[in-house]
Amino acid sequence: MKVSFLGAGAIGSMFAALLKHYAPDLDVLVVVRGAHGQAISESGEIRTLGPWGTRSVPIAWSFDPADVAGSDFVFVTVKSQGTAEALQQAGDAIGDAVVVSIQNGINDQAYANHVAPERLVMGMTTTNMAVREPGTVSMQLDGCTLFGPPIGLNSIAAAEKVVELLNRIHVPGLEFLPHSNILGIRYNKLTINALGYASCLSASNFMTEALFHRPWRRVVGRAIVDECKRVYSAVGIQIARIPGRSDLSRLENLMLALELPILDKVVQLGLRGKFERSPIVFSLYQDLERGKPTEVEHINGQVVRLAESAGIHAPVNREIVSMTHELEQQAAATFYARQDVIDRISKLTAS
Ligand SMILES: NC(=O)c1ccc[n+]([C@@H]2O[C@H](COP(=O)([O-])OP(=O)(O)OC[C@H]3O[C@@H](n4cnc5c(N)ncnc54)[C@H](OP(=O)(O)O)[C@@H]3O)[C@@H](O)[C@H]2O)c1
Repeated sequence: MKVSFLGAGAIGSMFAALLKHYAPDLDVLVVVRGAHGQAISESGEIRTLGPWGTRSVPIAWSFDPADVAGSDFVFVTVKSQGTAEALQQAGDAIGDAVVVSIQNGINDQAYANHVAPERLVMGMTTTNMAVREPGTVSMQLDGCTLFGPPIGLNSIAAAEKVVELLNRIHVPGLEFLPHSNILGIRYNKLTINALGYASCLSASNFMTEALFHRPWRRVVGRAIVDECKRVYSAVGIQIARIPGRSDLSRLENLMLALELPILDKVVQLGLRGKFERSPIVFSLYQDLERGKPTEVEHINGQVVRLAESAGIHAPVNREIVSMTHELEQQAAATFYARQDVIDRISKLTAS
């Protein structure tokens, strides 16, 4: 059986290497590019760091997306904005493969243009992986990865096949599950990212400098969550609960607890050290730091488009999109002061 990973960066390289390690009978191919791809092509291996220590996994690689030809499964692990280009480059080579997205953001139109719905599986992962240096990926956080049908299809048969495949990976803390409302799961994660991305505009630690900071939490954080929920309700999107720690309702409970005088201190005392040592790093921050295009149009931008489709406005998410684009035009690693972000959102919510 051939399994390809189209656009193997942090997520694709890690899942490909884990799959090849635990299921050596599979032909696993990574389609790579850039410095990370160059390093993999020179060593013929992906170096992985995780609770298992350090492990180098020999792997087949290619710089040509058309080399996915003959695959039974093609995992797409490029950033959302690169989906259409990657699918176009792979073209007919995708053949009858089941195409599996493990991405953030809403990019369903790109798939609709290239893949029949019955061969498409949409995924969402709560894990956190990073390219530590070219050729080396690390698992920063374990968690679950959920799979389900694209919009308009009810059958989870293809998702179950993907879960069966990935269940060959045996790493404690990594779970693969089918879910019938994967769209609700994806919007749950999208909302957390919409909030997280706002904290990246000022390079603020999401927990200790954004959520724990009362003015940011009240003016920016609450406004984004409320606006997202208002828009979902207007277009009929039902948020589904994500198993484990990365769930919107858990985040909202935390925000509520931080409003209560004594609980506020207890929570901060309990969590501050942990999140100062291991901050949650959103990809938007890494992209801005490296001067790369961000996924903001597929996260906050998606909320703006949904609102427009329902004839309503999403000014707060629109402002986060605008501010992100402003930073994308600046030199790499340029950020706002946290107070500037609060002031800009506060002007919108006051009017
Ligand atoms: N990393 C995480 O922990 C994490 C967690 C949850 C969800 N996600 C989501 O998962 C998706 C992948 O994230 P990631 O962090 O793995 O991103 P990433 O590290 O940037 O990996 C994507 C890789 O695909 C390459 N690529 C892009 N277009 C390509 C093409 N046409 N042909 C060949 N290679 C191509 C990129 O090269 P260039 O760098 O040259 O563009 C990059 O190496 C994103 O939607 C992200 O939001 C990530």
